[in-house]
This record gives sequence, C-alpha cells and structure tokens, in this order.
Amino acid sequence: MAPRLQSTQYLLILFCFFVFLSASLVAESTTLYYKWEVMSEIKSPDCFKKLTMTINGGSPGPTIYAHQGDNVIVELKNSLATENVAIHWHGIRQIGTPWSDGTEGVTQCPILPGETFKYQFVVDRVRAGPDGFVFDFFLIFSILEINLQAGTYLYHAHYGMQRQDGLYGSIVVWLPEGQLEPFSYDHDRNLILTDWYHKSSHEHATGLATPDPGFQWVGEPDSLLIQGRGRFNCSLLGSSSLASATCNTSSPQCVPYPLTVVPGQTYRLRVSSLTSLSALSFQIESHTMTVVEADGHYVEPFQVNNLFIYSGETYSVLIKADQDPSRNYWATTNVVSRPRTTPPGLAIFNYYPNQQRKLPPTTPPAGPAWNDVAPRLAQSHAIKARQGFIHPPPKIADKVIVLLNTQNTVKGRRRWSLNNVSFNMPHTPYLIALKHNLLHTFSQAKPPTGYDFKNYDIFNPAPNQEATESDAIFRLDFKSTVDIILQNANMMSPSSSDTHPWHLHGHDFWVLGYGEGKFDIYRDPSKYNLENPIMKNTVALHPYGWTALRFVADNPGVWAFHCHIDAHFFMGMGVVFEEGIDQVGNLPTSIMGCGESKRFLRP
Ligand code: C2O
Ligand code: CU
Repeated sequence: MAPRLQSTQYLLILFCFFVFLSASLVAESTTLYYKWEVMSEIKSPDCFKKLTMTINGGSPGPTIYAHQGDNVIVELKNSLATENVAIHWHGIRQIGTPWSDGTEGVTQCPILPGETFKYQFVVDRVRAGPDGFVFDFFLIFSILEINLQAGTYLYHAHYGMQRQDGLYGSIVVWLPEGQLEPFSYDHDRNLILTDWYHKSSHEHATGLATPDPGFQWVGEPDSLLIQGRGRFNCSLLGSSSLASATCNTSSPQCVPYPLTVVPGQTYRLRVSSLTSLSALSFQIESHTMTVVEADGHYVEPFQVNNLFIYSGETYSVLIKADQDPSRNYWATTNVVSRPRTTPPGLAIFNYYPNQQRKLPPTTPPAGPAWNDVAPRLAQSHAIKARQGFIHPPPKIADKVIVLLNTQNTVKGRRRWSLNNVSFNMPHTPYLIALKHNLLHTFSQAKPPTGYDFKNYDIFNPAPNQEATESDAIFRLDFKSTVDIILQNANMMSPSSSDTHPWHLHGHDFWVLGYGEGKFDIYRDPSKYNLENPIMKNTVALHPYGWTALRFVADNPGVWAFHCHIDAHFFMGMGVVFEEGIDQVGNLPTSIMGCGESKRFLRP
C-alpha cells in the first residue's frame, strides 16, 4: 500500500513546484539593452525636405524585438539642440515601473537637451525587481490566471506634439521560446502607418494655442507614410529652383516601401497607426487579410479587404501570397472619417523575384468612401476575443464615468472638453506630486463624472458657455472596476462629428460595446458584451456614437487617458487617473527636476 502523504508533504511538493516554475521563469527572461540618440535631421520621407526627429538616424526608429517577460532598457540621449523630449511605450502597462511610462507631465519631467534618461521596463506582465522569490511565487498565480501579452506595441514621443515630427517606432513582443501562437504563418513583418505634415509641430502648436480669430487648425496632412515613406506631388510646388531644392521626387528616401513576399507563403503583417490626425483604411490589392490580433490580444479571426485603423491601434493580419506572382501589387492607405484631400500612401507588395521597385501595372485601389461610417462601425463590432483566449470582465462596475466629448471655446481659445472641462497639464508631474504629497501643485477638485444627459442634444448642441479648463484628475479606488462611456457629439461647426481614438495608459480595457446616438445609462448597459469582449488599449469613438469600456484599477500609478489625435490632446482632450499611489515604489530621481519636483534633487 502506498504511504499516504501528510498535508505538510503536499505543501512541500507544491512549494518545490513553484520554486521550480519561478526559477524557470526568471531564467528565461533576458535583458535587452538599447542605446538611442534622438536627433534633429533634414529628411525627405515624402520627397519634401523637412526637419525630422530621428532615433539613431531613423524615422521610424529602431524596432524593439523582445520576448514576453524580457527586461528592456533604453538609454535615451537627447541630442536635440534646443528641445526637450520624452518617450512613451504605448501598450506596455509598466506594472511596477509607472515612472517609465514616458508621459511628460504625468509620469516624468522632460528630458533636457544633452541629458540621457534610462527607461527600464518589462514586456509585459512579469514584474522583475528586488521582490525576488516571494514576489515571483505570487506572480505565478497571476500569470496563470491572466492573459499573456505577446503582440504588437509602439513607442513615440509624448512631449507636446513632437510625435508628428517623426519620433516613433514599433515594439514586437514574441511568445517565450517554444510557445506557439494559435494561428500559423511563415514570416512576420511589420508596417507603421503615419500621416505627415510639412509644417513643424511647433507651428501647429502655436496655431492651435492662439485665441480666436488667430486660431489655426492643423489642416489635413500633406501625405501618408507607410513605414516612414510616402510621396508628395512635388509638381504642386511649381518648377522654381527653390521648389526643386525642397522637393525631389527621385530622392531614395521616398521610394515606396517594398514588402517582399515569396509566392505561396503566409505572412503575419503587423499593421499599426501612429497618425497625428487621420483615421485610415489599409488594403493590399487583390489580397484578403485575416485579422488575428488587436493591441496585443488574439482576435476571433475574420476577413477584411480593408482594415480600418485609428491612431494608436495595432493589428496583426494574415495574408497569403496567392495571387499571380509575375507582377507586384499595391499596398495602400487612405484617409477615412475626414474629407479626403491627402493622396493615398503607397507601398509595394512585391512578389519575389520581381524587382522591388517595379510598379504594379494597375492604378492603386481607391479605398472605401471616406464618409461611410457603417463599415467602420461593423469592423469595430466584429472584433471579439478569440475562443480559448477569452478573459471575461468583472460582471459589474464599481464606478461609471460618462465622458461627453465636445469642442468649446475656453478663454477665447478653441478647446476640446470632457463634461465641459478641458485638460491642462501641470508643471509638476502628477506621479511625483501625488507620491510626495505636493497636492497644491494641481487642482484638488473632482472632475465631473457625467453631463446633463436629459437636456443635452448631441446632434445640435447649444454653445457651451460654461466650459472651463482644469488639471484636476480622477482618483480611483485601488482594484475597483471602472466603466468609461465615451459620448461623441457635434463639433462647433454644424453637421460634423469626428472619430476619436481613445488610448489608456497603464491598462488594457474590455470593449463592452459601441452604439449610435446618445448613450442611455438605464438601457444600454444591458447590451454590453460580457461574453467575449476584446481587450485593447486604444479604441475608436465613432461620429455621433458612444463606446463603453471597463477596466480594473489595479496598476499602481498615474495614467493618462486621452484622444490619440495630437491636436485634440493638445487642445485638452484627455483625463488622468490615479490608482494605488501608496503602492508605488520609490521614484527614481531621474524623472524629477521640473516644477516643484526640483526640491528632491541634491543641490
Ligand atoms: Cu500613444 Cu498617451 O499615447
Ligand atoms: Cu480626438
């Protein structure tokens, strides 16, 4: 008869098991060390010469390739002569490292010219650090229980509107060695879509900040870039010698990006958008795409001819190179949701061994109608968590915040507001102010959690006279479940409502639903998808519609939640959440030095 184990023996075995698991986990993670230098350079990404911000000479900057759980260190040197910088790791939740989020004004002071700043974080859920074994022991539970986060992420400047001058790139996080994705492909490729302006972000910022009647909207972009390359029609500038010195169609920098494929093979294409303004559609002529990932989460696969993508979103699509291989095809991106005056962005889907530069014999596909909201809404509805990878949300929320998105005039300036409050960034970053009790550095008011639902007409709003500006923030109960309902409305000009891609730092949220018209807090929650909602970090708020999200405030830190359109955030379209500030570890002094945080630096 086999001896019966005592309960203490069970415990011992269990303990050894976790020690083993924990050790193997630690052993697997690697530290990736990058040295980056931010510089200002004259570049011609769309054939037109512009002062561009580069990282190690490139825009986009280097791609970070990591395995899930890896420790990433980026030593960032600011070699701009006269400008500050900060870099945000978009989609990385910074669990245990909220000071590495890179959001100037929220989590750190700007990095001054000549300074080097060290960002250090783990991709993604695994928390490294001095907690050692005891922490890992508990970590195992949380890892088994929640989603792993291999997937596609981004990084970009988060200081003023600097991102649009070219400071951005990709982060690709692979599964740990030996683990397989729930879909198969032969090759893994990556494309970032952006829009491009010939004016500098400073000129844009000045125009946006000038009170009426001097206010200058940024206007539509001059071109669209695919992986940092586009094509401006230089002939629009005439044929003066100045024009030909500024715009050179034969510059190698603006040759369409070639995406080379081998006939018969399947490609995982990571498509992301870091546009400053534009919502985009993306397609590859004669090829269908199967959507399998969104913002680092597996999607129940569905097919599209056009992929709609909003600033801050990432997708993976599978594409089979199964068309006539004797020619090349167009990969195109087009503006949607705003009147289309920008020419399409073009890349070449190049069948090996055709020449990479050989233009396809066809005219590029025109893309979907810019003002047709229905297919965009349909795509939003189609994105569900993949079977077998569903992480159901908590069934009910502890707190509901409705955010009415409106355009207003505040103190003579054109602004965006949430419930009539337009966001201003304070001079002392919130993370430092809260951790060190400098509560006088920003407003201690409670931002409104709703608006006058009964009387407000989202289609025909009365002018909002009472709009104000504030740097007050939402303080959330640690580990509470929070619902956010984004409500769109008409803008200041009649019959227009924009698409706003909202991005949350420090979290992924469940997308509970989208609706048209005014959200009804009494009836619409019954339509929420609590079965298989996708988790994302960026989501679209469609024209005249609403979008409902849920997240658990369990990541100690201070996190921005804002519209990812540069100009909109600049004009106040954002809020800030604090949660579990008392659980945040000691702040590194490297994030300090501005506003009242100067006092923590040694003289
Ligand atoms: Cu990608 Cu706060 O942004
Ligand atoms: Cu917006």
